[in-house]
Amino acid sequence: MDPSQVTIPPLMDLTIDNITENVNLINSANPDARFKYVLERLVHHLHDFARETRLSTHEWMAGIQFLTKTGQICSDVRQEFILLSDILGLSLLVDSIDHPKPPNSTEGTVLGPFHTHDAHSLGHGELMSHDDNGDPLLVLCTVKDVNGKPVSGVKIDIWETDSSGHYDVQHAGRTEPDGRCIMTSDDKGDFWFKAIVPVPYPIPHDGPVGQLLKTLRRHPMRPAHMHFMFDKEGYDHLITALYLRGDPYETSDAVFGVKNSLIVELGKVDKATAEKYGVDEGIALLTHDFVLVTDEESKRLREENSRKALAKLGKKVKIVEGLPVPDVD
Ligand code: BEZ
Ligand code: FE
Repeated sequence: MDPSQVTIPPLMDLTIDNITENVNLINSANPDARFKYVLERLVHHLHDFARETRLSTHEWMAGIQFLTKTGQICSDVRQEFILLSDILGLSLLVDSIDHPKPPNSTEGTVLGPFHTHDAHSLGHGELMSHDDNGDPLLVLCTVKDVNGKPVSGVKIDIWETDSSGHYDVQHAGRTEPDGRCIMTSDDKGDFWFKAIVPVPYPIPHDGPVGQLLKTLRRHPMRPAHMHFMFDKEGYDHLITALYLRGDPYETSDAVFGVKNSLIVELGKVDKATAEKYGVDEGIALLTHDFVLVTDEESKRLREENSRKALAKLGKKVKIVEGLPVPDVD
């Protein structure tokens, strides 16, 4: 409906049964069709949640207080709301919706709060973690498209914890980035570097999200992993991670990030490889072939999935700038 045509009835004497439609009516003057749709559905589901659970004032206030504490602990280096989204499975859900992947491509997973923008660019073969207590690891990777063609010039952000399970930003007095780097894939789509074997670690759990996990009788652990973020114009931005096979938390990640296709088995560096890459024979070896999807293919899949998902819910939609809005014409 044209927002200027909306007539607002007197907003008085609203009831459990008619408050939702009236709140949505007064919110409907915004001309941005997507914003209007998202807010309308948010109010609808929030109100239905309260009606269905018969939410008490006490519970509503407990929720407000929890969200207040969640906000109060946020800072430049701590994002408790994203952590909350992570442990409720929302982060993974949104990534799966917004970055659909065809079966033969690398799946995405949660970003987490520990990516930074100050990692140094390293040349191939350089060391990205200077933790002497970590087990040395040689990482040999390729980046290809879905047709198996190498993709060169991809900017790859990589980050992992130290051997104590902490990212560099979790150490007070951090002066330099460590355990993170930026690489660029070469003409053959290859990139390789030295790191340490990832270890399992707990997500920050000294705040409201940690308290919630405790209340839910859930542990805060993530299985051992290394993060990778791929960026090249024309390709869908890929945020992913590789997880080590056999980790005790492989099937109970606190933030639901593990996917079977992202689990890798570590090997051992043989003599020839050790000589070629200038590392000790016998250290751990991680090899992986990443497969990127073009922007075009990702957009096509996203739109197709949107139409299918909304048709299932009995909704007619049109796609505007890649996102569904109700089709009212
Ligand atoms: C991480 O893997 O760095 C992470 C992801 C979600 C929440 C906390 C940490
Ligand atoms: Fe992590």
